[in-house]
Amino acid sequence: MKKFVSDFNAHVDNTEFLSIIEEFVNNETVQKMKNFRQHYETTCFDHCYMVAFYCYLICKKYHLDYISATRAAMVHDLFLYDWRVRQPNRKGLHAFTHGKLACENASKLFSLSQKEKDMIITHMWPVTLQFPTSIEGLILTFVDKYCATSETLEVIKSKMFMKKAFRYAYVFFSFIMVRF
Ligand SMILES: [Fe+2]
Ligand SMILES: [Fe+2]
Repeated sequence: MKKFVSDFNAHVDNTEFLSIIEEFVNNETVQKMKNFRQHYETTCFDHCYMVAFYCYLICKKYHLDYISATRAAMVHDLFLYDWRVRQPNRKGLHAFTHGKLACENASKLFSLSQKEKDMIITHMWPVTLQFPTSIEGLILTFVDKYCATSETLEVIKSKMFMKKAFRYAYVFFSFIMVRF
């Protein structure tokens, strides 16, 4: 995922995308998302960045409100804790509560429209029952799931490759040992 981000920054004219998320990425709290893992090796920051990037591309292509979609996506997981560790002050499971929490956190730092707030709150649909109130919000929920799945598969694939590489190395060295 990191490679994808750097490739994207290197080869695509991303001036408009970066200008939309500039306010967010320059924020100290948003930067702290780099300290927390979201899915395996992907940080919360990189995950939000990728979701924002895909929302930007899709919504722009279909002449939707790509600015709101990109802004909401960049902070849709704005929480500063490791969600695998039980938080003493958290009521309910992370999956059900963090959309609302991210919206509260983002609203304290940025001036968000009601549409952007709705997108953040409902991004966990259908895990949470609240259905997105806009087409951009619906796109955000699907893009979020796509990114989460690819971030997870990326690690599973590399682990499988490592296992395979280890097996080949084992066979190779066993063969050498038998020969000498
Ligand atoms: Fe989320
Ligand atoms: Fe997410």
